[in-house]
Amino acid sequence: MAATRSPTLRPIHWRNGKVTLIDQTRLPHEEVWLELSDYPSVVAAIREMRVRGAPAIGIAGAYAMALAAREAAQSHPTAPSRWLEAAAVEIRAARPTAVNLAWAVDRMLAVARATADADIPSALADEAVAIHEADEAANRRMSSYGAELLPRDGAVLTHCNTGALATGGYGTALGVIRTAWDDGRIKKVFVTETRPRLQGARLTAWELADAGIDATLIADSAAGQLMARGLVDAVVVGADRIAANGDVANKIGTYSLAVLAKESGLPFYVAAPTSTIDLSLASGDLIPIETRAPEELTHLGGQRVAALGVEVANPAFDVTPHRYVTAIVTEAGVAESPYEPALRGMSGVAGA
Ligand code: MRU
Repeated sequence: MAATRSPTLRPIHWRNGKVTLIDQTRLPHEEVWLELSDYPSVVAAIREMRVRGAPAIGIAGAYAMALAAREAAQSHPTAPSRWLEAAAVEIRAARPTAVNLAWAVDRMLAVARATADADIPSALADEAVAIHEADEAANRRMSSYGAELLPRDGAVLTHCNTGALATGGYGTALGVIRTAWDDGRIKKVFVTETRPRLQGARLTAWELADAGIDATLIADSAAGQLMARGLVDAVVVGADRIAANGDVANKIGTYSLAVLAKESGLPFYVAAPTSTIDLSLASGDLIPIETRAPEELTHLGGQRVAALGVEVANPAFDVTPHRYVTAIVTEAGVAESPYEPALRGMSGVAGA
């Protein structure tokens, strides 16, 4: 019997023709909401990770397209479609790894191309709201499928932030955890700090505390020790892009967790909407991996901590080969190896 599902934060809103979003760089200390009325401000918010998480940046990108369509009609009435296509290129490039952004922009462009110029602004606003609402519904569906996979009375480890903040609402991997907790299925959650941006310590810990879920924060490098001691029963993470063969790009550190899980005999689950599946890429080797600024590693809270002159490599994501993945959970069901036919069968559910 399913327990009542608690409502969760919606990190993005479309109100009076503007995008309002919670600034995730200020959490957990301050809840600051940004009101953005033009598409370049949304692009900047995505780049600066004020809004982050694959589904959330897809939704923000869709609203950016709606803002760009209005601007095209008002300021470039002679060639609004050409101007919108140029804006789409800019929006799509805001961050490279999460395919949800390109997916949402392409879906918005398809609507624009099929609509008479005068009607494009309202059609795109409606489409962005539809993408947003469908994402939250998808999360709730995948969470029910995923919760059933988790070991009864188990402890689950998760990485980065995949909760309401990272999505249109409710969450993917964290949605699975939330549902499993509400159903009384799991008894504990371990949250990795998630260096260097600390999405686990700042955001996931904040969401779990708010939900009253028993959570323990660990350093990223403590995961192996916990698994070796038998304190973890399963790992659940999200994804930024899933290639046709089931290889998964996700937050840097995910691959190490998957290898550790396999070595420890633990299941490793990935939860993501079908909009995260990229069937155009045969394997994870082809997924573009974002590199972020060296200061994310050399500085802590604005203070330099690294030795002067040291070289820095700061990939924001890694790719976990599909052989380490026990199952991929989407709103269309649970895929297991061999992944390609299963993922192909699921695509199209979100218009993928
Ligand atoms: O750099 P971020 O914080 O946008 O990275 C987020 C992640 O890697 C998440 O695990 C992924 O986007 C899934 S969010 C539901």
